[in-house]
Amino acid sequence: MCGIVGYLGPRTTYEVLLEGLRRLEYRGYDSAGVAIQVNGHLEVIKAQGKLSVLADLLAQRKPEGRSGIGHTRWATHGPPSEINSHPHCDCEGHIAVVHNGIIENYLELREKLQAEGHKFKSQTDTEVIPHLLEKYYRGDLEKAMQRALKDIQGSYAAVALVDKQPGLIVAARQYSPLVAGIGEGENFVASDIPAILKFTRKAYLIDNGEMVVVTEQNIDVKTIEGKSVKKPVFQVKWDAAMAEKGGHKHFMIKEILEQPDALRQTIGQRIRGRGPTLNLEETKFSDAFLKRIKKIVIIACGTASYAGMAGGYCIERLCGVPVIVDVASELQHRECMFDKSTLGIAISQSGETADTLQAIRMARRQGAKVLAITNVIGSSVARESDSNLYIQAGPEIGVASTKAYTSQILAMLLFAMKLAEVRGAIKPARLRGLLRAIKKLPDQAAEFLAKEAKHVKRLAKKYLWCKRYLYLGRGPNYSTAMEGALKLKEIAYIDAEGYAAGEMKHGPLALVTEECTVMSAVVEGEHYEKSLGNLQEIRARGGKVIAIANEGDAEIEKYADDVIRIPKTDELLSPVLAGIPVQLYAYHVADMLGCEIDQPRNLAKSVTVE
Ligand code: AGP
Repeated sequence: MCGIVGYLGPRTTYEVLLEGLRRLEYRGYDSAGVAIQVNGHLEVIKAQGKLSVLADLLAQRKPEGRSGIGHTRWATHGPPSEINSHPHCDCEGHIAVVHNGIIENYLELREKLQAEGHKFKSQTDTEVIPHLLEKYYRGDLEKAMQRALKDIQGSYAAVALVDKQPGLIVAARQYSPLVAGIGEGENFVASDIPAILKFTRKAYLIDNGEMVVVTEQNIDVKTIEGKSVKKPVFQVKWDAAMAEKGGHKHFMIKEILEQPDALRQTIGQRIRGRGPTLNLEETKFSDAFLKRIKKIVIIACGTASYAGMAGGYCIERLCGVPVIVDVASELQHRECMFDKSTLGIAISQSGETADTLQAIRMARRQGAKVLAITNVIGSSVARESDSNLYIQAGPEIGVASTKAYTSQILAMLLFAMKLAEVRGAIKPARLRGLLRAIKKLPDQAAEFLAKEAKHVKRLAKKYLWCKRYLYLGRGPNYSTAMEGALKLKEIAYIDAEGYAAGEMKHGPLALVTEECTVMSAVVEGEHYEKSLGNLQEIRARGGKVIAIANEGDAEIEKYADDVIRIPKTDELLSPVLAGIPVQLYAYHVADMLGCEIDQPRNLAKSVTVE
C-alpha cells in the first residue's frame, strides 16, 4: 500500500515526482524517496517521515536530471526507516526500483541472491527486485525485468531505472495499480491518476501481467512476456481542483460537506422523469439472471462493508433475497458462500483493496457473478468484476471514508430497487414512492448540514470528556452504529463499539456507566419503539444518550440527553442521512483533540495488501 511515480521529460524532475507523491500520500506516508538520473549516475534521496521531510532535502540538494522515480511508503516488511524506504538499489547503485505490493517468496530469493554474493541493505521484500535486475541485466533493462519477474511471486507495481540507459523507465504490474500518463515530449507512470493530473489527462491503464517501457517520446505497453499490447487511451475527466481541499482545514470535512453533490452524482441519470423511472442499464445483467438469484453476498471491508449492510437490509426487505455480509478478509475463506445462483456485490471506494479483490476472485472462480460498486473508474475491482455501478462521488482523499459511504449505500439502494422491479417483488406505486424519496436525499443532506452542522460541533465539545462510546442501531441503522463507532475509533482514537441495539442485554449493557456515552439512530419506522426501549435501559444506568432522530419527533426528548435532527425519509433510506451526523461528530471530536485527521496513525487510504 504505497504510492509510486515516475517521470521522463524536460521539467524539473524532482518537482514533478514530489507533486505526484503529494497526490499519492493517502496511499502511505511513513517514508518517501526518489531516484533521479543525474549525469550518468543515479542520485537516490530518501527520508523517514512525512513527504515534507523529503521535500526539504530535495530543495537543498536540487538533483538535476530528465528522468526519475519516486515512492511514498506504508510499511509491510521492515519498520519505517530511511534504509527501508524506497527506492532500493542493487549492490553498486546502478539500478533503482520503487515497488508497491508484496513479494511473497522474497525470503527464498534473498537467501539465494545472498549466496550468489549480493549484499542487501534493508529488511524489505522489495530489495530483491533490484538485485534480480542486477543479476539479469545485460545492457537491456526491459529484458532484465522480464527475466526477473519470472522469479517473483506476489503482487507488484514495480518501476525501475538504470544508470546505463538514461531516459528509460520500465514498469510492470501484477495486482497492484499502475497507470502510464501520456504527455507531449514527456511521459509518466504512477499508482493512480491524481498523481499525474496536473500534467496530463491522458493515460493507459495497465493491467495485471503487463509492463510498460517508457521514454520521453514513447510508451510501449507489453505483456510481461514481451508481446505488444494495444491499449485504448483513457481520457481523464476529473478536474485537478476537485482533488484539493477547497479551502477546508481537512479533506475529511470537505468530503463530508460534499455529500449532497456526491449523492446527486450517484443518482445522476439513473432516476428519470416525473414518474419517476429507474434506469440501471449499465449493470448489464440480464433480467433472467436477476430473477434467478437465490442469494447475495456482500464483498467489502471496513466502511464499505457497513454500506453493504445498509443496502443489503433494503434488498432483503424489498426482494426477499437473503443477503450475507462478511468482511472480505474472512469471506475469502468461506468457500461455500458462492455458486451460480449467487450474486456477489463488491463494494470498494478505491477499487484496489486486496482482501476485496481476493474474495471477488474466489466468488467468480466458484461460478458467481460479481457486481462492483466502486468510485474509481478502471480500478482493479471494477475490471475484475462482471459488471459495474460507479458511485461517481469524486475523488475521496481523507483516509476516513465519508462521501463514498453514503454514495455506496445509495448505489446499493438503487440496485435494490432494480432487483425488486425485475423480480416483480414491489408494487409500482411503492417503487415510485421510494424513487421519489431517493431523489430528495441530496437536498435533505444539504438541509441537514445547513441546519445541524453547528449543533453537532457543539455536542462534540460538550462530550469531549468522554472516553468510551457505544453506538447503537436497529434494522437498516445497525450499519450506522457500526460506521459511527469506526469513524470515532479511526480518527479520534477513542474506544467506541457499534452494536445492534437488541444485543445490549446480552452483554454490552454491563459497560454502561456515567462515563459512557451512547449514540443511537432512532428514526421513525418499524424499529422506533424498541429503540426507545433501549435508550431507557441506558439512561436507567446513568449512561448519556445522544439520539439521531427525525425532525418533528417530540417523543425522543424524553429518552435522550441530546438530539441531532435529520430530515424524515423512508426508514429503508434513512442510513444515508443518519450516516452524516456520525461522521461530523467524529470529525469535530478528532479536530478538538488535535488528531491528524486526514492521515490517522497506522492507517492508509487504500489497503492493497492482505
Ligand atoms: C474507512 O473510513 C476506512 N478507512 C476503511 O474501513 C475503508 O473503508 C476500507 O479499507 C475499504 O476501503 P475501500 O472502500 O477502498 O475498499
